[in-house]
Amino acid sequence: QINTQANLIGKHEVLTWYKPREKFSHKGSFGHALLIGGSYGKIGAVNLASHAALSSGAGLVTAYMPKCGYLLLQSALPEVMVLTDEGENCITNIKFDITPTIIGLGMGMGTHETSLKAFESFLNSNKAPLIIDADGINLLSKNNDLLELLPKQTILTPHPKELERLIGGWKDDFDKLKKVSALSKKYDIIIVIKGANTITVYRENYYVNSTGNPGLATAGTGDVLTGVITGLRAQGYDALIAAIFGVYLHGKSADLQVENYAYQSMLARHVIEGLGLAYLDLF
Ligand code: APR
Ligand code: MG
Repeated sequence: QINTQANLIGKHEVLTWYKPREKFSHKGSFGHALLIGGSYGKIGAVNLASHAALSSGAGLVTAYMPKCGYLLLQSALPEVMVLTDEGENCITNIKFDITPTIIGLGMGMGTHETSLKAFESFLNSNKAPLIIDADGINLLSKNNDLLELLPKQTILTPHPKELERLIGGWKDDFDKLKKVSALSKKYDIIIVIKGANTITVYRENYYVNSTGNPGLATAGTGDVLTGVITGLRAQGYDALIAAIFGVYLHGKSADLQVENYAYQSMLARHVIEGLGLAYLDLF
């Protein structure tokens, strides 16, 4: 009575989805990714995600954050455009005048009550496809009604604690997968269960990633993953493929960077640096 499909994802699978670049392509061909997040003391999260979105191939990247992050972002990442919220230290009212191809939201955003209100009114008017991570997921857990407002094929990327807040506990791994699958079906969303063997769940389908290592067990690698998936969505990869491909590239980068940094010394920024090697390794 178990009607499920499990798939192991390696190079062979992702190569069938890979989109080569055309000679006459231009940055407009690769979309505009918008990363929304950050709060006082956690601007680094949106910095990493924006950088990763560019390095995975997005044509344009804009970062949206509270005012306190403006100078840092502009000086750290000259390639990234910055928009600021009215709030000084946290996001209070998500307003922008661009039309992004894709939005990644939640990294380092905090779960302040005003940010929850801002998130709710954003979801009520938003038309762009979404990827939601970290505090964005925590905000969804604070008010489950918000799940109804997610666009179809929204991608959620919870780590174990975030997943627990979202679905409550689970008895064992099988129970966890069943609950995640039910949530995916109910709202037609894609859920990336992060961990040593990241599993992407869409309805009754499970995609088990084959790359990655304990070097990834370090601050900010989750923000990098959100950036990579957002960057792939910007380039026109469908939601499910972007999620699975992103998880693969992120892990592959870490596998290649272990030769330079060992597990202990690997930082989230090194995973961004290794994305080019991960692409080259496909061929
Ligand atoms: N093997 C392979 N991959 C791993 C391993 C491991 N042993 N450990 C972690 N990873 C990968 C996960 O699959 C995921 O892609 O590293 C990433 C870690 O992501 P997060 O847990 O979200 O960590 P991160 O976002 O960097 O933490 C910063 O953000 O989400 C909040 O509450 C979180 O305070 C934390 C902050
Ligand atoms: Mg995280």
